[in-house]
Amino acid sequence: MPLRAAILLAAVQASLTLASEPSWWQELRQQQSIGTAKASKGCTAEHRTSLWEDSGDAFEGWVWLMIMDFMPVNRSFYIQVPKNLGESPVPLLIGLHGQGFQADDYASTRDFGSFGRDLGFVSVFPQGLDDAIPGGADLGTGWNVGTAGDDQTCVTDQVTAGCYASCWLQNRCGQCNWSGCYDERIFVSAVIDTVSSALCIDQTRIYVTGESNGGMLAHFLVQSLPGTFAAVAPWFGLPLLGYGLGAEFELVRDRQNCRQTAMLQLHGRQDDVMPLTGGVSGMGWVYEPLNKVQQGWAAVHDCDTAASLTSTYWDGGDSKIECWEYKGCTSGRRIMRCYYEGAHMQVPDSGAADQITIWFLLQHRLGLASKPKQAISAVV
Ligand SMILES: *[C@@H]1O[C@H](CO)[C@@H](O)[C@H](O)[C@H]1NC(C)=O
Ligand SMILES: *[C@@H]1O[C@H](CO)[C@@H](O)[C@H](O)[C@H]1NC(C)=O
Repeated sequence: MPLRAAILLAAVQASLTLASEPSWWQELRQQQSIGTAKASKGCTAEHRTSLWEDSGDAFEGWVWLMIMDFMPVNRSFYIQVPKNLGESPVPLLIGLHGQGFQADDYASTRDFGSFGRDLGFVSVFPQGLDDAIPGGADLGTGWNVGTAGDDQTCVTDQVTAGCYASCWLQNRCGQCNWSGCYDERIFVSAVIDTVSSALCIDQTRIYVTGESNGGMLAHFLVQSLPGTFAAVAPWFGLPLLGYGLGAEFELVRDRQNCRQTAMLQLHGRQDDVMPLTGGVSGMGWVYEPLNKVQQGWAAVHDCDTAASLTSTYWDGGDSKIECWEYKGCTSGRRIMRCYYEGAHMQVPDSGAADQITIWFLLQHRLGLASKPKQAISAVV
């Protein structure tokens, strides 16, 4: 092909791509160039480990991991890798399914994999365990969000779950049984390390989202692994009573690192399983109110004390999406929530929740201001 024709064709293709791209992609592409990436081990060929046959093609499937928890446990995650990942670092999205679900089903109901192909990031879906004792009340796969054995998190006359085996073994049964007691912090950290050794991941752009019980786990992870995630987006997931600032009040104890994590919460106005106003839910669990959780994060980030209406590409529509934000955060990050018409587990039509989540998360990156906790206490 003559050079001029080739250039013309390339120009036409470029303008076609641009014309068909949603505005939020363009906004993201501009933001992605800001800041400095931190390459993972997997960015250098000699350090790269292989979890599957790496032919440069897209890959989608399960990976198994032996985790040294209080006892060794065989765990797994489902991963969606876009093709042609090279040696330039890409973001990593962690998606956490709800109680009773499977990671691959959750992955298939969301658009994260296809956005990953278009925008260049890897999606990973850890699998929760179900180790309910045979014959006991079984609530299916779920996540340990650090509350097992705490009798203050439920109204006992409505809760009927049996104690899961891993909680029995660690003496953490009580009046509020409901999931296993394997340590999700160890598991998710191992997932991040494993993927970061196998692929070229930007360590400043690790994100976490999740729905329902997975949203509760997302809260727990950003509280208990401060400085790991650049942003979090829990969907209809709230911390249980007393856990808004972390099981050990990490938001106060490790404010410098918590200030690195931006937060977007999505929640249906008619949710009565985890009511956005908090309090006792229809199932007997007691939750923190969503606005109070966000106020805590807004305080950590030094934002305005009150949330104000903010506009997004997705406002209105049948689901009446409306977003509020604590503006002016001195951390340079955003603390935001969006409400919409819907009950628990319901999301707005047309993939709006998936889009707004990716748009929000990918804006953020961990900064150089992130200091290890030791360095901070050394100064004091
Ligand atoms: C973990 O479980 C999977 C599926 O059952 C199995 O294929 C794999 O060999 C197990 N890994 C270990 C180390 O036991
Ligand atoms: C929690 O599990 C323990 C051990 O199985 C059981 O004794 C207790 O009754 C359970 N609590 C509830 C509220 O079901």
